[in-house]
Amino acid sequence: AAEPEAAAVAQPEAAPVPEPVAAADPVPAPEPEPAPVTAQEAAPLPEADAQDVAPLPAPEQSIQPEASAPEPESGPEVIETPDLSDEAEPVQPETSDEVPTAPTAPPAPGYDDAEREAVLRVMRERRDIRNGFRSDPIPHEVLLRVLEAAHTAPSVGHSQPWDFVVIRSAETRRSMHELAQQQREAYAKSLPKARAKQFKELKIEAILDTPVNIVVTADPTRGGRHTLGRHTQPQMAPYSSALAVENLWLAARAEGLGVGWVSFFDEREMVRALGLPEHLEIVAYLCVGYVDEFPEDPELMQAGWSKRRPLSWVVHEETYGRRALPGEAPHDLLQETISNIRPLDAKALGEAWERQKRMTKPAGALGMLEIISAQLSGLSRMCPPPIPEPAAVAVFAGDHGVHAQGVTAWPQEVTGQMIANMLGGGAVCNAFASQVGAEVCVVDVGAVAELPPMPGLLPRKVRAGTADFTTGPALTREEVHAAIEVGIETARDLVAAGNKGLLTGEMGIANTTASAALICVYTGMDPAEVTGRGTGINDEMHARKIDVVRRALELHQPDPADPIGVLAAVGGLEHAAMAGFLLGGASLRTPVILDGVSAGAAALVARAIAPEALAACIAGHRSAEPGHVAALNKLGLRPLVDLDLRLGEGTGALLALPIVQSAARAMHEVATFDSAGVTEK
Ligand SMILES: Cc1cc2nc3c(=O)[nH]c(=O)nc-3n(C[C@H](O)[C@H](O)[C@H](O)COP(=O)(O)O)c2cc1C
Repeated sequence: AAEPEAAAVAQPEAAPVPEPVAAADPVPAPEPEPAPVTAQEAAPLPEADAQDVAPLPAPEQSIQPEASAPEPESGPEVIETPDLSDEAEPVQPETSDEVPTAPTAPPAPGYDDAEREAVLRVMRERRDIRNGFRSDPIPHEVLLRVLEAAHTAPSVGHSQPWDFVVIRSAETRRSMHELAQQQREAYAKSLPKARAKQFKELKIEAILDTPVNIVVTADPTRGGRHTLGRHTQPQMAPYSSALAVENLWLAARAEGLGVGWVSFFDEREMVRALGLPEHLEIVAYLCVGYVDEFPEDPELMQAGWSKRRPLSWVVHEETYGRRALPGEAPHDLLQETISNIRPLDAKALGEAWERQKRMTKPAGALGMLEIISAQLSGLSRMCPPPIPEPAAVAVFAGDHGVHAQGVTAWPQEVTGQMIANMLGGGAVCNAFASQVGAEVCVVDVGAVAELPPMPGLLPRKVRAGTADFTTGPALTREEVHAAIEVGIETARDLVAAGNKGLLTGEMGIANTTASAALICVYTGMDPAEVTGRGTGINDEMHARKIDVVRRALELHQPDPADPIGVLAAVGGLEHAAMAGFLLGGASLRTPVILDGVSAGAAALVARAIAPEALAACIAGHRSAEPGHVAALNKLGLRPLVDLDLRLGEGTGALLALPIVQSAARAMHEVATFDSAGVTEK
């Protein structure tokens, strides 16, 4: 058989530059920790010694009111305005008008370099530990230092709401272990299959492996009724206890003690089992002990469960969304995303073709799957490529003002009702997702309905439905931008949460009308050729729908070279979000399996924004909508499944997922002629 041709997207790059996905700051290798060598060395000290080492202040002392600081005689001194000569450049003040100018006295000193590095190091090298605990006892003075560190934490209104219950009894630990096991099983049952498979391999507690467990509580009543700062925000009490946990964790790390936080508990059940006063809240259950080693990266990251998010994703300047690290100009999320999109890597592509030839099968015998696996290799810059598992479908939901033109038989409120159905697990996408082990998340980017918070719903409404594009633009350019950003951020979140495959889904009554308009703009075809019957409309309605698309195009004359303008004129919020989702997936070098006609329309827009984004796209299926075929032809993508589906919701993409996964798995598991000792043709 002939060697399969490279996919249309497989444009080898001249000089590939490897780039980490979510580059974490390089962490220096941890130095070996002086864990106690013998049990004796680590043996607890007698009580008196421990107190000698770290004396606690007498209780009376700590509640003595301090002498109040003397009132400053006058305000802080200010630097006199320099006498500027005519030629001198004016000095740019660094502070805003509201901030007083710097006093002449130097600020209080920070730590010297070595001390600062030690503080930062302990934060970097703190790890949550579940594996490799040792049974060596913890000396009293060591545990005391750790608890003192916890006890110096900040707290709301200085209420110090924490208590620490130190548990050593094997019997108590056994009963806590049993409770955690029950919750572990309940959680495992709630997971999509692919996640459950991953979770099975994870250790999530070390209750029985550690000599000491510590329960950290919060007393929401401590400090009386008028605790400063807790009045409007009662959650500040457990927050304060959580800060004590962090102090404890860091101090433990400095002592060479590992800490593992266990949150697989029903809190009330735990209060009863431990015989704690009923008014206490449990903030943390910690397993503490000496360890063989501190892993460099979080254990969940090493297991592929999650990825580290870069700092640049989470720092905003002045207003949310203006992302900028200190000293940098704010960057636009879309521009940043585009700048991270690269063509397929030529080296990995070449390796994939080579490997395909050496696998124990006739060359080209896997047909389209060989192309997919090469694409996955080029995208990930790895051969064999990662298997896109776990995977998640993001169903972007939005409503359409053009619904008012009578382009569908379904009332608009069905969008909101179907969102609830999907979140309740009753939609077709749920059944298919369950079959293929994928997660369903629903993103409300523009439904008209007000949706109550529901597990699995991402409330990201940019606006409640578009405007009727037969009378004016569907959206403003700003709204288009915001919806694209929703898509990018959804891709980021799903990838950071460990998903290795992304699938598009959408829900929006009347959205095939907007899809048809977008496809007309990007294919140049006539509305009569690309406008389909969507949910199954009659001839009269179909004729009206075609006319609506035609009128909209005449009204707006959208310019394909201005994709934001095209979306603003005739797009939908879910189309904009899906375009962002594709761009986001491409920038993270994660494959995106496209669903039907709306995804095809969004992919055309995404390609107009960043042509190389197509390198990440795989057409999951061909829908019965005529516009979809037109879109796929224009994109040069061959659909994997062709079963006359016309539902949306990500159903076609979900059916294609196992095909894509099989393509990647074959690269990992199929023997080569040389390794299997099979004679070649
Ligand atoms: C509030 C909280 C609850 C946690 N619960 C658990 C848990 O039940 N089981 C577990 O194995 N790890 C638990 N962890 C640890 C996290 O998984 C861990 O902090 C994260 O993966 C990052 O790894 P690192 O702490 O080593 O940096 C918890 C952490 C926090 C902050």
